[in-house]
Amino acid sequence: MKGTEKIVCLTAYDALSGALAEAVGVDVVLVGDSLGNVIQGHDTTLPVTLDEVIYHLKMVRRQVSRALLVADLPFGTYGGSVQQAFDSATLLMKAGAEAVKLEGPYFDEIRALTKAGIPVMGHLGFTPQSVHVFGGHKVQGREHGEVLIQAAQDLEAAGAFSMVLELIPTSLAKSISGAVSVPTIGIGAGPHCDGEVQVFHDLLGLAVKEYKHTKWYVLGRSIFEDALTRYVADVRTGKFPTEDDAS
Ligand code: KIV
Repeated sequence: MKGTEKIVCLTAYDALSGALAEAVGVDVVLVGDSLGNVIQGHDTTLPVTLDEVIYHLKMVRRQVSRALLVADLPFGTYGGSVQQAFDSATLLMKAGAEAVKLEGPYFDEIRALTKAGIPVMGHLGFTPQSVHVFGGHKVQGREHGEVLIQAAQDLEAAGAFSMVLELIPTSLAKSISGAVSVPTIGIGAGPHCDGEVQVFHDLLGLAVKEYKHTKWYVLGRSIFEDALTRYVADVRTGKFPTEDDAS
């Protein structure tokens, strides 16, 4: 699709979000470790375990048959050695992933996984698993953008079939997208990537905070809150259930 059609990627974490992603025709469904934030309520993705990703992956897998299904390798499951990356990625593939995503310049790991038949999506720029190295959620590559361009080319050379570019300047995302032949998928990286990825809860206004790089297409949280508030009031006032609502 690179150069011809924009690639649409969306995260999903359960049967409902997987089914909705599939129904609207997204190209890539990502079981992201952002589940640590939006499902588990953590401040970072660091606590997420491989077993937890597998648990969510299996739910999404049952609903996704057309889109490419990618699962995140969480923090601490691939950075130790090539063998560790292979063992972790193998478990994700056995649980139904069609590709795995990992963050950062793990070229040897990507080479080994690709050789073993595991497609790898890279992830450069702001990589949330390294939030403490970056000292917070900060745009990356404002200086020395050439380092990221080189890293992107090295990811491709190692075998990555695609890469996420997160929180980098628009101009740098454009340069990287032109410097590699595999698709770049942006988030907070402007309009020049080959595709876009967004977090399910962000698009639907279900997240607590609206980040600059997201767009709330609906105020989901307040719609749900309103409905549930009416339910609470109806039960308390005897408006629901009525005789008619009984089976
Ligand atoms: O975990 C995730 O959802 C991600 C995307 C935001 C790229 O890595």
